[in-house]
Amino acid sequence: MSVIRQLRQIDADDAGVDIAFRADTHSGLAQPQKAVPARWFYDATGSALFEDITALPEYYPTRSETDLLRRHAADIAAMVGGGRAVVELGSGSSMKTPLLLDAIDPAAYVPVDISGDFLRDSALALAARLPGLPVYPVEADFTQRVTLPDEIADLPKLGFFPGSTIGNMVARTAVDLLRNWRCALGEGSLLLIGIDRIKDVATLELAYDDPAGVTAAFNLNLLERINRELDGDIPVDNFTHRAIWDDVHARIEMHLVAACDMDFTVDGRRHHMAAGETIHTENSHKYGPRDANLLLRSGGWTPLMTWDDADPAFALILAQATAFRSAP
Ligand code: AVJ
Repeated sequence: MSVIRQLRQIDADDAGVDIAFRADTHSGLAQPQKAVPARWFYDATGSALFEDITALPEYYPTRSETDLLRRHAADIAAMVGGGRAVVELGSGSSMKTPLLLDAIDPAAYVPVDISGDFLRDSALALAARLPGLPVYPVEADFTQRVTLPDEIADLPKLGFFPGSTIGNMVARTAVDLLRNWRCALGEGSLLLIGIDRIKDVATLELAYDDPAGVTAAFNLNLLERINRELDGDIPVDNFTHRAIWDDVHARIEMHLVAACDMDFTVDGRRHHMAAGETIHTENSHKYGPRDANLLLRSGGWTPLMTWDDADPAFALILAQATAFRSAP
Protein backbone atom coordinates (compact mmCIF):
# COMPACT_ATOMS: atom_id res chain seq x y z
CA MET A 1 0.00 0.00 0.00
CA SER A 2 1.56 3.25 -1.09
CA VAL A 3 -0.59 5.76 0.83
CA ILE A 4 2.00 6.89 3.33
CA ARG A 5 0.03 8.87 5.95
CA GLN A 6 -2.46 11.70 5.93
CA LEU A 7 -1.19 15.05 7.16
CA ARG A 8 -3.90 17.17 8.79
CA GLN A 9 -3.59 20.94 8.67
CA ILE A 10 -7.07 22.01 9.77
CA ASP A 11 -7.80 23.74 13.09
CA ALA A 12 -10.92 22.22 14.66
CA ASP A 13 -12.57 23.04 17.97
CA ASP A 14 -13.60 20.53 20.69
CA ALA A 15 -16.78 19.72 18.78
CA GLY A 16 -14.66 18.83 15.74
CA VAL A 17 -15.93 21.88 13.83
CA ASP A 18 -13.49 23.75 11.61
CA ILE A 19 -12.73 27.02 13.41
CA ALA A 20 -12.55 28.94 10.13
CA PHE A 21 -15.99 27.63 9.06
CA ARG A 22 -17.55 28.98 12.24
CA ALA A 23 -15.78 32.33 11.93
CA ASP A 24 -16.57 32.74 8.20
CA THR A 25 -20.23 31.87 8.74
CA HIS A 26 -20.68 34.33 11.62
CA SER A 27 -18.94 37.19 9.86
CA GLY A 28 -20.65 36.39 6.55
CA LEU A 29 -24.17 36.32 8.00
CA ALA A 30 -23.54 39.61 9.81
CA GLN A 31 -22.90 41.50 6.52
CA PRO A 32 -25.61 43.59 4.82
CA GLN A 33 -25.22 41.30 1.78
CA LYS A 34 -24.97 37.96 3.54
CA ALA A 35 -22.25 35.72 2.09
CA VAL A 36 -20.55 32.44 3.02
CA PRO A 37 -17.37 31.43 1.15
CA ALA A 38 -17.79 28.62 -1.39
CA ARG A 39 -15.16 26.37 0.14
CA TRP A 40 -17.64 25.50 2.95
CA PHE A 41 -19.80 23.60 0.44
CA TYR A 42 -17.42 20.68 0.72
CA ASP A 43 -18.37 18.63 3.75
CA ALA A 44 -18.82 14.91 2.99
CA THR A 45 -22.38 15.46 1.65
CA GLY A 46 -21.35 18.50 -0.39
CA SER A 47 -18.34 16.73 -1.87
CA ALA A 48 -20.59 13.83 -2.93
CA LEU A 49 -23.15 16.27 -4.40
CA PHE A 50 -20.39 17.99 -6.35
CA GLU A 51 -19.40 14.62 -7.82
CA ASP A 52 -23.05 14.23 -8.93
CA ILE A 53 -22.86 17.69 -10.55
CA THR A 54 -19.82 16.65 -12.60
CA ALA A 55 -21.90 13.84 -14.14
CA LEU A 56 -24.73 16.19 -15.25
CA PRO A 57 -25.08 16.78 -19.01
CA GLU A 58 -25.41 20.54 -18.38
CA TYR A 59 -22.23 20.77 -16.29
CA TYR A 60 -19.71 20.81 -19.16
CA PRO A 61 -16.46 21.88 -17.35
CA THR A 62 -15.58 18.37 -16.11
CA ARG A 63 -16.34 16.79 -19.48
CA SER A 64 -14.44 19.45 -21.45
CA GLU A 65 -11.41 19.28 -19.17
CA THR A 66 -11.35 15.47 -19.22
CA ASP A 67 -11.51 15.56 -23.04
CA LEU A 68 -8.55 17.95 -23.13
CA LEU A 69 -6.51 15.78 -20.76
CA ARG A 70 -7.25 12.69 -22.84
CA ARG A 71 -6.65 14.31 -26.19
CA HIS A 72 -3.42 16.10 -25.22
CA ALA A 73 -1.92 13.67 -22.70
CA ALA A 74 1.09 12.96 -24.92
CA ASP A 75 1.79 16.68 -25.52
CA ILE A 76 1.45 17.42 -21.82
CA ALA A 77 3.78 14.55 -20.93
CA ALA A 78 6.36 15.76 -23.45
CA MET A 79 6.42 19.21 -21.85
CA VAL A 80 6.24 18.09 -18.20
CA GLY A 81 8.62 15.11 -18.30
CA GLY A 82 8.83 12.30 -15.73
CA GLY A 83 9.99 12.18 -12.12
CA ARG A 84 7.93 15.04 -10.70
CA ALA A 85 5.93 15.26 -7.49
CA VAL A 86 2.39 16.14 -8.57
CA VAL A 87 0.63 18.36 -6.01
CA GLU A 88 -3.11 18.56 -6.66
CA LEU A 89 -5.06 21.46 -5.16
CA GLY A 90 -8.60 20.49 -4.21
CA SER A 91 -8.27 16.90 -5.35
CA GLY A 92 -11.87 15.90 -4.48
CA SER A 93 -12.48 12.42 -5.84
CA SER A 94 -9.34 12.67 -8.05
CA MET A 95 -11.31 11.44 -11.07
CA LYS A 96 -9.17 13.20 -13.67
CA THR A 97 -5.90 12.60 -11.89
CA PRO A 98 -5.19 9.11 -13.31
CA LEU A 99 -5.31 10.58 -16.83
CA LEU A 100 -2.45 12.90 -15.90
CA LEU A 101 -0.49 10.47 -13.71
CA ASP A 102 -0.70 7.68 -16.29
CA ALA A 103 0.72 10.02 -18.92
CA ILE A 104 3.66 11.60 -17.09
CA ASP A 105 5.35 8.93 -14.93
CA PRO A 106 5.47 10.95 -11.70
CA ALA A 107 7.68 10.29 -8.63
CA ALA A 108 4.98 11.07 -6.03
CA TYR A 109 1.42 12.33 -5.73
CA VAL A 110 0.25 14.80 -3.08
CA PRO A 111 -3.54 15.36 -3.09
CA VAL A 112 -4.57 18.39 -1.00
CA ASP A 113 -8.24 18.62 0.00
CA ILE A 114 -10.35 20.22 2.71
CA SER A 115 -12.66 17.20 3.04
CA GLY A 116 -10.65 14.68 5.09
CA ASP A 117 -12.76 11.51 4.73
CA PHE A 118 -13.29 12.12 1.06
CA LEU A 119 -9.54 12.66 0.64
CA ARG A 120 -8.70 9.41 2.43
CA ASP A 121 -11.07 7.33 0.29
CA SER A 122 -9.94 8.81 -3.00
CA ALA A 123 -6.24 8.59 -2.07
CA LEU A 124 -6.70 4.89 -1.27
CA ALA A 125 -8.56 4.29 -4.53
CA LEU A 126 -5.87 6.06 -6.50
CA ALA A 127 -3.01 4.24 -4.77
CA ALA A 128 -4.71 0.93 -5.57
CA ARG A 129 -4.91 1.96 -9.21
CA LEU A 130 -1.28 3.07 -9.40
CA PRO A 131 0.68 0.66 -7.19
CA GLY A 132 4.21 1.79 -6.50
CA LEU A 133 3.41 5.51 -6.64
CA PRO A 134 3.93 7.11 -3.21
CA VAL A 135 0.80 9.08 -2.23
CA TYR A 136 1.02 11.67 0.56
CA PRO A 137 -2.49 13.10 1.21
CA VAL A 138 -2.69 16.47 2.93
CA GLU A 139 -5.96 17.50 4.59
CA ALA A 140 -5.82 21.27 4.32
CA ASP A 141 -7.50 24.36 2.93
CA PHE A 142 -5.36 25.06 -0.13
CA THR A 143 -6.29 28.76 0.00
CA GLN A 144 -4.24 28.92 3.23
CA ARG A 145 -0.56 28.16 3.72
CA VAL A 146 0.01 24.43 3.25
CA THR A 147 3.11 22.58 4.46
CA LEU A 148 4.12 19.99 1.89
CA PRO A 149 5.40 16.57 3.02
CA ASP A 150 9.18 16.49 3.62
CA GLU A 151 9.47 13.48 1.33
CA ILE A 152 8.90 15.56 -1.80
CA ALA A 153 11.24 18.42 -0.80
CA ASP A 154 13.94 17.51 -3.33
CA LEU A 155 11.70 16.50 -6.23
CA PRO A 156 10.82 18.77 -9.14
CA LYS A 157 7.16 19.73 -8.84
CA LEU A 158 4.05 20.02 -10.93
CA GLY A 159 1.08 21.80 -9.38
CA PHE A 160 -2.22 20.44 -10.74
CA PHE A 161 -5.19 22.73 -10.22
CA PRO A 162 -8.00 21.40 -12.39
CA GLY A 163 -11.72 22.10 -12.54
CA SER A 164 -11.52 25.89 -12.83
CA THR A 165 -11.58 26.13 -9.05
CA ILE A 166 -9.42 29.26 -9.38
CA GLY A 167 -12.67 30.78 -10.72
CA ASN A 168 -14.15 30.71 -7.20
CA MET A 169 -11.75 33.47 -6.19
CA VAL A 170 -11.99 37.16 -6.99
CA ALA A 171 -8.94 38.39 -8.90
CA ARG A 172 -6.90 39.62 -5.95
CA THR A 173 -7.47 36.43 -3.97
CA ALA A 174 -6.66 34.34 -7.05
CA VAL A 175 -3.40 36.24 -7.49
CA ASP A 176 -2.55 35.78 -3.78
CA LEU A 177 -3.16 32.05 -4.14
CA LEU A 178 -1.03 31.78 -7.28
CA ARG A 179 1.80 33.66 -5.56
CA ASN A 180 1.58 31.52 -2.41
CA TRP A 181 1.72 28.33 -4.43
CA ARG A 182 4.59 29.68 -6.50
CA CYS A 183 6.44 30.09 -3.21
CA ALA A 184 5.40 26.65 -1.90
CA LEU A 185 6.28 24.78 -5.11
CA GLY A 186 9.41 26.79 -5.87
CA GLU A 187 10.93 28.62 -8.80
CA GLY A 188 11.15 26.49 -11.92
CA SER A 189 8.05 24.47 -10.94
CA LEU A 190 5.26 23.85 -13.39
CA LEU A 191 1.54 24.40 -12.94
CA LEU A 192 -1.19 22.72 -14.99
CA ILE A 193 -4.36 24.69 -14.37
CA GLY A 194 -7.92 24.37 -15.68
CA ILE A 195 -9.70 27.65 -16.40
CA ASP A 196 -13.26 27.94 -17.69
CA ARG A 197 -13.88 30.27 -20.63
CA ILE A 198 -16.44 33.05 -21.05
CA LYS A 199 -19.19 31.77 -23.34
CA ASP A 200 -22.89 32.27 -24.14
CA VAL A 201 -25.02 33.04 -21.09
CA ALA A 202 -27.52 30.21 -21.66
CA THR A 203 -24.82 27.52 -21.54
CA LEU A 204 -23.26 29.09 -18.45
CA GLU A 205 -26.49 29.51 -16.50
CA LEU A 206 -27.74 26.00 -17.32
CA ALA A 207 -24.45 24.55 -16.04
CA TYR A 208 -25.16 26.13 -12.64
CA ASP A 209 -28.92 25.62 -12.56
CA ASP A 210 -29.61 22.13 -13.84
CA PRO A 211 -33.20 20.95 -14.35
CA ALA A 212 -32.65 17.91 -12.10
CA GLY A 213 -31.91 20.25 -9.18
CA VAL A 214 -28.57 18.74 -8.19
CA THR A 215 -26.85 22.13 -8.07
CA ALA A 216 -29.76 23.48 -6.01
CA ALA A 217 -29.27 20.62 -3.52
CA PHE A 218 -25.51 21.34 -3.46
CA ASN A 219 -26.17 25.02 -2.70
CA LEU A 220 -28.85 24.28 -0.07
CA ASN A 221 -26.59 21.72 1.65
CA LEU A 222 -24.57 24.66 2.93
CA LEU A 223 -27.55 25.65 5.10
CA GLU A 224 -27.95 22.04 6.28
CA ARG A 225 -24.26 22.02 7.17
CA ILE A 226 -24.61 25.25 9.16
CA ASN A 227 -27.59 23.74 11.00
CA ARG A 228 -25.69 20.48 11.66
CA GLU A 229 -22.32 21.86 12.71
CA LEU A 230 -23.13 25.31 14.08
CA ASP A 231 -26.32 24.50 15.96
CA GLY A 232 -28.47 26.48 13.53
CA ASP A 233 -32.23 26.44 13.03
CA ILE A 234 -32.30 27.87 9.50
CA PRO A 235 -35.59 26.89 7.79
CA VAL A 236 -33.91 25.42 4.70
CA ASP A 237 -37.24 24.89 2.88
CA ASN A 238 -37.72 28.66 2.85
CA PHE A 239 -34.75 29.11 0.49
CA THR A 240 -34.41 28.67 -3.25
CA HIS A 241 -31.35 28.31 -5.47
CA ARG A 242 -30.35 31.07 -7.91
CA ALA A 243 -27.50 31.10 -10.44
CA ILE A 244 -27.03 34.17 -12.64
CA TRP A 245 -24.34 35.51 -15.00
CA ASP A 246 -22.82 38.85 -13.95
CA ASP A 247 -21.26 40.27 -17.10
CA VAL A 248 -19.39 43.09 -15.35
CA HIS A 249 -17.42 40.65 -13.21
CA ALA A 250 -17.50 37.88 -15.85
CA ARG A 251 -18.80 35.38 -13.35
CA ILE A 252 -21.67 33.12 -12.41
CA GLU A 253 -22.99 34.04 -8.99
CA MET A 254 -24.86 31.53 -6.85
CA HIS A 255 -27.21 32.73 -4.17
CA LEU A 256 -29.66 31.26 -1.69
CA VAL A 257 -32.81 33.36 -1.94
CA ALA A 258 -35.17 33.87 1.01
CA ALA A 259 -38.69 32.98 -0.20
CA CYS A 260 -40.36 34.79 2.72
CA ASP A 261 -39.51 36.92 5.74
CA MET A 262 -37.86 34.79 8.41
CA ASP A 263 -35.82 34.73 11.60
CA PHE A 264 -33.30 32.10 12.58
CA THR A 265 -30.33 31.57 14.87
CA VAL A 266 -26.86 30.14 14.36
CA ASP A 267 -24.86 29.37 17.51
CA GLY A 268 -27.52 31.39 19.34
CA ARG A 269 -26.98 34.50 17.19
CA ARG A 270 -30.20 35.89 15.73
CA HIS A 271 -30.56 36.73 12.05
CA HIS A 272 -33.42 38.21 10.07
CA MET A 273 -33.98 37.93 6.34
CA ALA A 274 -36.70 39.64 4.34
CA ALA A 275 -38.31 37.90 1.36
CA GLY A 276 -36.03 38.32 -1.68
CA GLU A 277 -32.84 38.86 0.35
CA THR A 278 -30.04 36.45 -0.48
CA ILE A 279 -26.99 34.71 0.91
CA HIS A 280 -24.23 34.88 -1.71
CA THR A 281 -22.55 31.48 -1.73
CA GLU A 282 -20.32 31.28 -4.80
CA ASN A 283 -18.61 33.16 -7.59
CA SER A 284 -17.40 31.21 -10.59
CA HIS A 285 -15.29 33.55 -12.71
CA LYS A 286 -14.73 32.81 -16.39
CA TYR A 287 -11.71 33.98 -18.41
CA GLY A 288 -10.95 34.81 -22.01
CA PRO A 289 -7.53 33.76 -23.37
CA ARG A 290 -5.77 37.04 -22.54
CA ASP A 291 -7.55 37.34 -19.16
CA ALA A 292 -6.27 33.92 -18.14
CA ASN A 293 -2.69 34.69 -19.19
CA LEU A 294 -2.73 38.01 -17.36
CA LEU A 295 -4.04 36.34 -14.21
CA LEU A 296 -1.28 33.72 -14.30
CA ARG A 297 1.46 36.28 -15.00
CA SER A 298 0.18 38.44 -12.13
CA GLY A 299 0.67 35.43 -9.86
CA GLY A 300 4.23 34.82 -11.08
CA TRP A 301 3.45 32.01 -13.50
CA THR A 302 4.48 32.31 -17.17
CA PRO A 303 2.07 30.52 -19.52
CA LEU A 304 3.95 28.03 -21.73
CA MET A 305 1.09 26.33 -23.55
CA THR A 306 -2.70 26.44 -23.74
CA TRP A 307 -4.93 23.55 -24.83
CA ASP A 308 -8.46 24.85 -25.31
CA ASP A 309 -10.05 23.06 -28.22
CA ALA A 310 -12.89 21.58 -26.15
CA ASP A 311 -16.59 22.29 -26.78
CA PRO A 312 -18.06 23.93 -24.69
CA ALA A 313 -14.86 25.93 -24.34
CA PHE A 314 -12.50 25.28 -21.43
CA ALA A 315 -8.74 25.82 -21.14
CA LEU A 316 -5.90 23.73 -19.74
CA ILE A 317 -2.84 25.94 -19.33
CA LEU A 318 0.70 24.84 -18.52
CA ALA A 319 2.67 27.60 -16.82
CA GLN A 320 6.07 27.90 -15.18
CA ALA A 321 7.36 29.75 -12.12
CA THR A 322 10.02 31.62 -14.07
CA ALA A 323 12.54 34.01 -12.52
CA PHE A 324 11.22 37.55 -12.10
CA ARG A 325 12.30 39.87 -14.85
CA SER A 326 11.20 43.48 -14.64
CA ALA A 327 10.34 45.44 -17.74
CA PRO A 328 11.46 45.95 -20.39
C1 AVJ B 1 -15.58 23.09 -8.24
C2 AVJ B 1 -15.45 25.44 -8.09
C3 AVJ B 1 -15.02 24.37 -10.15
O1 AVJ B 1 -17.40 26.72 -9.90
O2 AVJ B 1 -17.85 25.30 -11.45
C4 AVJ B 1 -20.29 23.59 -9.58
C5 AVJ B 1 -18.25 24.39 -8.23
N1 AVJ B 1 -20.61 25.16 -8.19
N2 AVJ B 1 -21.58 23.94 -9.64
C6 AVJ B 1 -17.55 25.57 -10.30
C7 AVJ B 1 -19.69 24.37 -8.66
C8 AVJ B 1 -21.78 24.89 -8.79
C9 AVJ B 1 -17.29 24.39 -9.36
N3 AVJ B 1 -15.86 24.33 -8.95
